[in-house]
Amino acid sequence: MTTLPSSTRTIPDADSIPRHVAIIMDGNGRWAKQRFMPRIMGHQRGVESLRDAVRSCRDLGVGYLTVFAFSSENWRRPVDEVSFLMSLFLKMLEREIASLHKNNIRLKIIGDRSRFDDKLCQTMLAAEKLTVANTGLVLTIAANYGGRWDVMHAVHTLLQDKPELATTFSEEDLRPYLSMSGAPEPDLFIRTGGEKRISNFMLWQLAYTELYFTDTLWPAFDRQEFEKAIASYMQRERRFGRTSDQLQGGQKTLGVTRA
Ligand code: IPE
Ligand code: IPE
Ligand code: MG
Repeated sequence: MTTLPSSTRTIPDADSIPRHVAIIMDGNGRWAKQRFMPRIMGHQRGVESLRDAVRSCRDLGVGYLTVFAFSSENWRRPVDEVSFLMSLFLKMLEREIASLHKNNIRLKIIGDRSRFDDKLCQTMLAAEKLTVANTGLVLTIAANYGGRWDVMHAVHTLLQDKPELATTFSEEDLRPYLSMSGAPEPDLFIRTGGEKRISNFMLWQLAYTELYFTDTLWPAFDRQEFEKAIASYMQRERRFGRTSDQLQGGQKTLGVTRA
């Protein structure tokens, strides 16, 4: 299994296009409500925005796009909305997979699949399998995902595999067991819809990610909005604990003084 060094240890280039963008696609319900439509219409329009975001990433050269589609807390929503979201997810996979594949996109799905029905599980597996060898954008969809679940699941699996490490395991031992082990940590996090919270998204991986919040509701988040987020990112100075002077001096790796 390939794992990449944590960005808390090596410094990624800050002044270039982010390698990995993570998005909480929020505000579908409010978008629909503003238009006197049922919430589900917002979810439906949200799929268009996801399509746009994928296209923007491909055009701009972003290598990894990870989107939060359904949180482990979203089961608390009305049953009708949950079942609509499940069938929308299934339909989206069935409809989009051929075009993702044609565009050399690799699809991955992270989260706890145990609550999904058989048909959805099979479709998810088939979609991942079809695109496994693709070398372009890696699109990861987080479904029934929670950041705490991710960490707990990783710890449990590590301890099952290597019980001898129970009291000694390191971050490096744990990393291969986390959902996003094959990707660099997100450089840029975007949350649409105005809320300023992480809502149990990638808690571990977002440790040093640049955060961008916008009031724009997800169905209205288009190419221009995406470029605004990237432009904001490119103006940030990512210091990872160091001083501005150190970075200006070109120090790109951890110094001799230990954290
Ligand atoms: C995000 O939009 C989509 C999901 C959580 C599935 P919301 O449905 O949360 O929309 P708002 O926040 O109610 O507007
Ligand atoms: C977070 O959105 C999850 C997704 C976008 C899938 P929510 O709208 O459910 O977040 P909270 O619960 O309001 O923070
Ligand atoms: Mg919401």
